[in-house]
Amino acid sequence: MIAVVLPAAGAGERFKSKPTDLPKQFLGLAGRPIYLWALSTFAAHNSIDKIVVVVPDGSLDTVRVEISNVLPKYAHKISVTAGGSTRQHSVHNGLEHLSALDAHPDYVLVHDAARPLITSALIDSVILSVTKHGASTVAMQVTDTIKRAKDNIVGDTLDRSELVQIQTPQAGRFDWMLDAHRKARAENFSTTDDSTILEYGGHKVHIVAGSPYNLKITNPEDLLLCHSLAQLIDKSS
Ligand code: CTP
Ligand code: MG
Repeated sequence: MIAVVLPAAGAGERFKSKPTDLPKQFLGLAGRPIYLWALSTFAAHNSIDKIVVVVPDGSLDTVRVEISNVLPKYAHKISVTAGGSTRQHSVHNGLEHLSALDAHPDYVLVHDAARPLITSALIDSVILSVTKHGASTVAMQVTDTIKRAKDNIVGDTLDRSELVQIQTPQAGRFDWMLDAHRKARAENFSTTDDSTILEYGGHKVHIVAGSPYNLKITNPEDLLLCHSLAQLIDKSS
């Protein structure tokens, strides 16, 4: 059994112009909330048996209702649970929710709800990699020159051939991912992604080639880009 944790409990501070604005994952992208894009793609994927959407405490009911209205065909395989104060905490909550089920998943994929344009083909590649290696992440070769910088002055140039840009999904054997998260929590280790958590748990994380379309909506310009890409995707499908 393969499960997905979709962290969607962030406040979206870098995106917001006012602290009271809705978190970015609940804003509209071509007619539906951003988090529903990735959720719909995972829900419609034949190899995905279970999805946990992790949302802010106050949004649990709204999101449950929205999912049963918009994705009635798949609602049986989707649960909604509350997140925590960091992404790591939210993902851990999602994993503990899965571990409380009667049947544990064999593998779990963790995907940012803020990356709406994930494709079924990329999910296939991640599943192929994680079922072979046990721990995987999507990543892209870096194409720009990357330098260190301090006080607005550039310094050393890093060797681009050794650098990758990490995306999600990040995936692992479920027991590896859960144990690594529990260890990180117990030892106060904090990081922003699950490939680092898997490494912390002692696992080699294999790379799956990502795509520039699988971008994360972080700042308002990213939503504009996704709007254009979503229209192109609509026209081509
Ligand atoms: N996330 C989460 N719980 C948190 C923080 C983040 O579930 N406490 C989720 C976000 O909702 C998002 C994903 O993790 O889908 C990636 O995080 P990021 O892009 O950093 O989103 P935010 O933390 O919401 O944004 P910011 O860092 O600008 O506040
Ligand atoms: Mg964040």
